[in-house]
Amino acid sequence: MCGIMGYTGKKNSIPIVINGLKSLEYRGYDSAGIAYIYKNDIKIIKEKGRISNLENELEGDSSNTCIGHTRWATHGEPSRINAHPHKVGNITIVHNGIIENYNELKNKLIKEGYKFKSETDTEVACAIIDYYYKKLNDKIKVIEKLKDVLKGSYAFLILFQGDDKIYATKCGSPMIVASSMNGNFIASDIPAILSYTKEYFLLDEHDIAILDKDFIKFIKDGKEIKKEKLIFQFDTEVASKGGYKHFMLKEIHEEPKVVKDYLDYYFENFDLIPDISKYRKIQIVACGSAYHAGLIGKFLIEKYGSIEVNCYIASEYRYQLNFIDKNTLVILVSQSGETADTIASLRLAKKNKAKTLGIVNVVGSTIARECDSVIYINAGAEIAVATTKAYVNQVLTFSLIAYKLGLKNKLLTEDIKKEYYKLPNEISKMLKLDYHKLALKISKQNNVFFIGRLIDYYLCLEGSLKLKEISYIHSETYPAGELKHGTISLIDSGTIVISIVTDENISEKTVSNIKETKARGAYVILLKRDDIIVDETCYDEIIDIEKMSDLAMAILTIVPLQLLAYYVSDVKGLDIDKPKNLAKSVTVE
Ligand code: F6R
Repeated sequence: MCGIMGYTGKKNSIPIVINGLKSLEYRGYDSAGIAYIYKNDIKIIKEKGRISNLENELEGDSSNTCIGHTRWATHGEPSRINAHPHKVGNITIVHNGIIENYNELKNKLIKEGYKFKSETDTEVACAIIDYYYKKLNDKIKVIEKLKDVLKGSYAFLILFQGDDKIYATKCGSPMIVASSMNGNFIASDIPAILSYTKEYFLLDEHDIAILDKDFIKFIKDGKEIKKEKLIFQFDTEVASKGGYKHFMLKEIHEEPKVVKDYLDYYFENFDLIPDISKYRKIQIVACGSAYHAGLIGKFLIEKYGSIEVNCYIASEYRYQLNFIDKNTLVILVSQSGETADTIASLRLAKKNKAKTLGIVNVVGSTIARECDSVIYINAGAEIAVATTKAYVNQVLTFSLIAYKLGLKNKLLTEDIKKEYYKLPNEISKMLKLDYHKLALKISKQNNVFFIGRLIDYYLCLEGSLKLKEISYIHSETYPAGELKHGTISLIDSGTIVISIVTDENISEKTVSNIKETKARGAYVILLKRDDIIVDETCYDEIIDIEKMSDLAMAILTIVPLQLLAYYVSDVKGLDIDKPKNLAKSVTVE
């Protein structure tokens, strides 16, 4: 979602902020803007579209203090007027998040004589800060007041007229602060500061940060506090494509190494994989691909742990009846650790006294910090909006949890470790296949169907999401047996049906369903475990996948589908790393 970057220091802040915003482009945005202190005043430049459009508007000024923003529209269409920064009276701000009570506040402010130019909740927040600043005439007291006045989520950078410091606070949206010899930085995400430093401070809820050219001050509940310095663990190289055409392709090609490093680390430190056998109720909660990883988790934990597991979409879970108690384990899965609905579900679970376990990639993120315990998936920074290597390591994490249960229940022996260690090599084989012919065929379609049963169905859900989100081709995913209860009426001559068959217990059933589509003219692409024998007339194209234990199979099988989605989008010449309307970290409901 929106990106934030601010700098104050000895250098010209404008190119620093623009570059910081560029490194946050992957979060998804539709307009961008900056505000900087210039000749004792604040100058604002903003533009719809890409940051390059904003750069065309720059006037060659130099300034020591600048704040910037990339906007992902929530209230009001993408336009120059709705873009941030917003200025009202003495206050200029950029904002990530959503102010839920903005309408009520807007009406109150209109009665006080405020006029609004944009449709945004941010301009209302800006006016509220101005209103209280006029009343209280104390910057810290005004910022502290926001937690009582605003409902929703926010991370703000604030400039007060006549003061060259940057003020910041946050509630429900992430914000980091960093310093260097030449000045101080504040941003919504780490890539924005990585070319200057790997050290940073994380703002907690309602903390206030004050950035001066020479110092940073943190305030909580009116008192100055010290904060722990954190170190970003990954390579700074993450911010480059390393010779690949897109970040997504680079990240898929990192999977063999990411998986190997994960296995080395967690087999060495096997205590870090929790034994969850004492829980009688397990709930997995997540969004999007993380939810799909959770479904595979459900399958494997039930099979090897004999524990009933339910898997929920976080945006539903937080509003539905859910029977949580102190004997329930709630597992929250999130690459970013900042997904608003998953955070809300975590807080709900904690309120109801459940134990919470996070499966998270971003170290120090909200979910990682707030869960009772966390397993880091160690996938490294993921820049492409569509998740690939992080999804793979989410599934691997569930697989190791299931493996631990299987050992305890004597369903498995340590021999299975060998299967896991085949994965890097087998994934590499998948990377080498030629997907171009299939990609070209799929790229001409308007609709694609994915069918499979059980774990293969869960894999289909993820394969289909990958295809939809980056190629903009509509696809439907169905449990293979469910197709004839309605959707088969959409299968026609030439309709592409992608099917996965990796579970021998139900392969014959799925193959019968595939034949039903074939009989109606479907063009079938079959991803099949190589030892499962199927009749050649039931497919048009086949991708054979090495036979492995289902604990490893699920990780391997997604790779060709990730690549297929990538190449379809590439054939169509789309913006693969930043698909339209999407954001990397969904910090609003
Ligand atoms: C799809 C994708 C999304 C995320 C979802 C959850 O490729 O990336 O569906 O999986 O938005 O995000 P996290 O894992 O950050 O909570």
